[in-house]
Amino acid sequence: MADLVIANASQILTCAREGLHPPFAGRDQGELGIRTGGVAVENGRIVALGPRAAQMQATRRIDARGGVVLPGFVDCHTHTVFCGDRAEEFEERARGVSYEEIARHGGGIRSSMRMLREVSQSELEAAVHHHLDRFLDLGTTSIEAKSGYGLSAEHELRALRALGIEHPIEVTRTCLAAHEVPPEYEERREEYTDLVCDEIYPAVAKEGLAEYCDIFVEDGVFSFEEGQRILSRGRDQGLRPRVHADQLSRSGGARLACRVDAISADHLEYSTREDAAALRDHGVIAVLLPAANYALDQEQRPPARAMVALRCPIAIATDFNPGSAPTQSMPLVLNMACVRFGLSVAEAIVGATINAACAIGRAGQVGSIELGKQADLLVTTAKDHRELAYWFGANPVRCVIKRREVVRGS
Ligand code: NIG
Ligand code: FE
Repeated sequence: MADLVIANASQILTCAREGLHPPFAGRDQGELGIRTGGVAVENGRIVALGPRAAQMQATRRIDARGGVVLPGFVDCHTHTVFCGDRAEEFEERARGVSYEEIARHGGGIRSSMRMLREVSQSELEAAVHHHLDRFLDLGTTSIEAKSGYGLSAEHELRALRALGIEHPIEVTRTCLAAHEVPPEYEERREEYTDLVCDEIYPAVAKEGLAEYCDIFVEDGVFSFEEGQRILSRGRDQGLRPRVHADQLSRSGGARLACRVDAISADHLEYSTREDAAALRDHGVIAVLLPAANYALDQEQRPPARAMVALRCPIAIATDFNPGSAPTQSMPLVLNMACVRFGLSVAEAIVGATINAACAIGRAGQVGSIELGKQADLLVTTAKDHRELAYWFGANPVRCVIKRREVVRGS
């Protein structure tokens, strides 16, 4: 007898392909492995799939009512640990002030830094808890989350600890101490890079507070050379690199990601076809962040179609943060990946599930509906997978199953 059976699904988007290992690229990026029928769950794992699964006896049944069932979204790039908001800056940008200009005048990342440094650990944890609850509402069941608003040894560690709170959502942690040079180190930036390499990374590694390290490589933030030094040191201490790459200019972040064996290179607005080919050759996943591209109203777009043509695997994520992407909605990001970057809905869904799981090293556990995998499942109001991206601004999620719990809906 199963613990849970979901029946009457119009489409089950397995996001899996027999005999093919993820991440999926090229033509395979657009294959959802659609099945019909139901999904059965035992001990938090998927034990049966298809018409037979729908007939199984179970302690609990969920009627999908002809809706689409898919894996819980994996949001593989977020900045979830922050306090307060930057709504004022949003309005300034709407009036035409640029993101870079706001940062030059002490706003941006540094204003979030000031807010984070002011709060207690329990306030920080409450903020994270609040954000994690909203992720679940929108069907996200696993996230990657970065520190990066602490920018001192004490506050970076506090931020990473806050991301370790108990919650149904699984959080894969990244130390982004190299997000910005904090103002107290403005005139001695080398000392800050030393602090990151020689104090923050060792402390993070020792306490097991993160699996990954990350850096913002950009004009006026960290250079390619600084990035190479910092990420190599992180890697040597067991933190695998990822890179904020080529977002606002052609800063070389994608090339850096290849050089330091990063798991992903993210943003990539200014990357080229050659960069895409290099990412593919080095096994680096391209993480595209359409909500940040939209919110900053960037005309420059990443070479998404070239990535598909060159068989470079793509993941998509929210980039949830208080500045460039104050959204937690993966359904909205699916829409934007289609409208702004020219992905098909199927390519975007694969990017938001199994490829995203690969981008955080969790493809063995989550991101697809396969026998033996964790039962992280969504039941939606969509009758066809394309509706997940089409009704933008709406939440198509009716029911969220995280391992053995029905955590949203019924
Ligand atoms: O991914 N690009 C750098 N970092 C974030 C934004 C951080 C912020 O504005 O607070 C991003 O877009
Ligand atoms: Fe980011």
